[in-house]
Amino acid sequence: MRPAGSATPVPFRTSQVNGWTLREFERVDSTNFVAAQLGAWEAARADTQTAGRGRFQRSWVSDAGGLWLSAVVPLGAGKEKVSTLPLAAGLAVIDALRKLGFPDTRLRWPNDIMVGDRKLAGLLVDSFSARLAVIGIGVNVTNQPAAQDESLRGTVTRLADLGGPTPALAILGGEILASLRTVIGQLSEQGFAALSPRINQLWGGRRRVRLDLDGRERVGLFGGVDLHGRLLLEDGRAVASALEPHQVRLLREI
Ligand code: BTN
Repeated sequence: MRPAGSATPVPFRTSQVNGWTLREFERVDSTNFVAAQLGAWEAARADTQTAGRGRFQRSWVSDAGGLWLSAVVPLGAGKEKVSTLPLAAGLAVIDALRKLGFPDTRLRWPNDIMVGDRKLAGLLVDSFSARLAVIGIGVNVTNQPAAQDESLRGTVTRLADLGGPTPALAILGGEILASLRTVIGQLSEQGFAALSPRINQLWGGRRRVRLDLDGRERVGLFGGVDLHGRLLLEDGRAVASALEPHQVRLLREI
């Protein structure tokens, strides 16, 4: 949860962007915490985050030049399940990036966006109330994550490293929000089965993986996700194992 006593930040701009009300801030602790105070179809973007958060309580380097964006979506009105939101959001971000001229982006389960073996973007879904979810999206653009944290050198990439024109943050954010609105609409109306074939085309081929099932290890071939969003692991058994996202603490490609 957000540290007690933090002041509520004031946006420097509020605008309507592709079906969303976007509030923009210079500096916040985490845009996910700011978005926790917003309503459905509202979003928060900040130039920098002082306490950017990754999965499993890891910190997320959020220096100037990256896209730090959190979008609030309604829950429970349709067929969406919160466990499938990270996968749906990953699809939306890749759709937007490919539209902007980055065809080599791929998904790594459950919600990393990769180029080759380097991480370009990450997603963090929080649900601070029963009826709303916050989808946090971090994309390295022209920021310098490895200069902030030496341990990231060689493991991360940025849109600016990929060749071709680097989109302005406003264009990138607008494209991602448009795509997110479309994908969340499809998820709500048709359920996850309508998205899974497209998601399963985005893993970038079949890869060997090592799974940490909260202490227990399993190795096998990553077989994508099933119609419910469960991870399919092929490890020589007659039927692939279907694992719920909460069962898998960490997936490593090996
Ligand atoms: C991960 O890969 O572990 C998830 C990273 C998510 C980072 C984004 S940046 C915008 C939003 N605010 C946060 O504090 N985290 C997410």
